[in-house]
Amino acid sequence: MSAETEPTPQIPRDTGTTREVIRLDQVTKRFGDNTVLDRLNFTVDAGKHVTLIGPSGSGKTTILRLLMTLVQPDEGTITVDGEQLYPAPEKQVREVRKKIGMVFQQFNLFPNMKVLRNVTEAPVTVLGMSKDEAEARARELLELVGLADKCDAYPTHLSGGQQQRVAIARALAMRPQVLLLDEVTSALDPELVAGVLDVLRDIAHSTDITMLCVTHEMSFARDISDQVLMFDSGRVIESGSPEKLFGDPDHERTREFLSTIL
Ligand SMILES: Nc1ncnc2c1ncn2[C@@H]1O[C@H](COP(=O)(O)OP(=O)(O)O)[C@@H](O)[C@H]1O
Ligand SMILES: [Mg+2]
Repeated sequence: MSAETEPTPQIPRDTGTTREVIRLDQVTKRFGDNTVLDRLNFTVDAGKHVTLIGPSGSGKTTILRLLMTLVQPDEGTITVDGEQLYPAPEKQVREVRKKIGMVFQQFNLFPNMKVLRNVTEAPVTVLGMSKDEAEARARELLELVGLADKCDAYPTHLSGGQQQRVAIARALAMRPQVLLLDEVTSALDPELVAGVLDVLRDIAHSTDITMLCVTHEMSFARDISDQVLMFDSGRVIESGSPEKLFGDPDHERTREFLSTIL
């Protein structure tokens, strides 16, 4: 990608009453000579649900991993709830990073810990919550995701759908302001997908958590999203309401992509 290409257009923002929780400014990420993100700009306002769509390899996971500080940008700045996450001193990174929770495609539960401990571990070790408080909160969250009776099970004894619901409870246990969801149903058997999406719909509609979601589940994306971003070759090429983007996209590339997944 050449340096002469236009910067990604800024997504229009309502600067009135809204508060930006995520802000990427001119973020570039390269792996070797592969420029995965090219001066990417975007913002997500508090409480909004934004869905990223786009072909495999277009950099969607990389965006979420940057926000989780699992990888670092080569250029640009990342701000979370008004505080800089990158570049920033390590102590600040640790603090800002607590505002963000993520659910991965492959669950990533701690296999040696029972379900309850999977959910209490980070609140106790990272937030310094008392064990009793963390357990009470974990039981509430496991109830929310329909797994109140699985507290004492090990992850390997659960279905993929159940493991993913534990992973959702685990992320929420940190009381993040932002929940990142990376194709959370794509590793599941088809009959288990609906249960996980129902839990997420419920969370989207009943909490004020900000969501940044990568999914190919279009009916789910329609239900929960305030805005959908079509992503290709490291750029946002189109953004809009789910009705507009899925129903009447402006870009041929978006139409082409949608025809491959619908
Ligand atoms: N750790 C890594 N090392 C080298 N290349 C990577 C790494 N992570 C991602 N990539 C490359 O970055 C590009 C974008 O990947 P990714 O963000 O996973 O895309 P998506 O989630 O949209 O499928 C791909 O070309 C991928 O091969
Ligand atoms: Mg991905």
